[in-house]
Amino acid sequence: MIDTVIHDDCLNVLPKMETASVHLILSDIPYGIGIDEWDVLHPNTNSAFLGSSPAQQKAGAVFQKRGKPLNGWSAADREIPSQYYEWCKTWTSQWLRVLKPGGSAIIFAGRRLAHRCIAAMEDVGFTFKDMLAWLRETAPHRAQRVSVIFERRGDEDSSRRWEGWRVGNLRPLFEPILWFMKPYEIGGTIADNILEHEIGAFHEKAFVKYTKSPDNVIKVQSEAKEGGLHPTQKPVRLMQALIELTTSRGHLVFDPFCGSGTTLVAAKMLERHYLGVEVREAYYQLTVKRIRDLETDLQQSLFPVLPDA
Ligand SMILES: C[S@@+](CC[C@H](N)C(=O)[O-])C[C@H]1O[C@@H](n2cnc3c(N)ncnc32)[C@H](O)[C@@H]1O
Repeated sequence: MIDTVIHDDCLNVLPKMETASVHLILSDIPYGIGIDEWDVLHPNTNSAFLGSSPAQQKAGAVFQKRGKPLNGWSAADREIPSQYYEWCKTWTSQWLRVLKPGGSAIIFAGRRLAHRCIAAMEDVGFTFKDMLAWLRETAPHRAQRVSVIFERRGDEDSSRRWEGWRVGNLRPLFEPILWFMKPYEIGGTIADNILEHEIGAFHEKAFVKYTKSPDNVIKVQSEAKEGGLHPTQKPVRLMQALIELTTSRGHLVFDPFCGSGTTLVAAKMLERHYLGVEVREAYYQLTVKRIRDLETDLQQSLFPVLPDA
């Protein structure tokens, strides 16, 4: 299982993988907040979840996409964070097993439930090294204006009183990146581990090519034509920065929730081996196509087709 993408549930694939075979797990995991069907990881029966309540259906696409407001009155909603923790626990011990000692697991997790993911990783034995921030230049801001809500109700006085107030959150310009390490072997040192497994340190010199300085705030943006393949698609350069931070040429990078395959594309471009798993047929197909296209590009740049004489 190397240099390939598998169309399956990663929970089926993980037990078949060799112990201590992976140098880096780099994954943008589902966030458990209902961005899409694949992001609903709990049995919540609240009809407003994913925007399917009668009021949301009537209000149209924007309101539906916004999903359900969090207000804490629903007992089912209050279960979501602990259910997300339980979902993470279905794969965390397998991740620990397949990683080499000293290997990193780098996870994009949503801001709202990242703490549950950290707990689930720690509880099986990972060391939580750091929380990095990926800084974007833009992000959609979906906080409703209170004055507009009252205006729609025909309540002009309240609309004036609440001018300038919003409900919701501030513009989400950063995404947390959780950086874990599998502990190196008992009785050994990190230097021994580096010699034996070639991992455990970070490559500052390579990382600063992307960020200028070795900071834990990363400001890498998408390229002009990047995007549109997956609702949570990440920039290839961002994944490349994290791969170069923690691995060397020829190492194996694994993404069990690979979506449209950004991690795998980044790994291949950097001459790392890759393995990806995606449960949804459409995203799996996109990954296959992206890798095939990259292979063609690489072949053309290695062996340029010369024009006829
Ligand atoms: C946050 S997205 C990753 C998007 C990716 N970063 C990209 O650039 O395209 C997570 C992906 O995990 C997939 N997924 C969810 N549960 C899965 C499972 N059990 N096994 C494999 N893939 C799964 C979803 O279909 C979704 O495409």
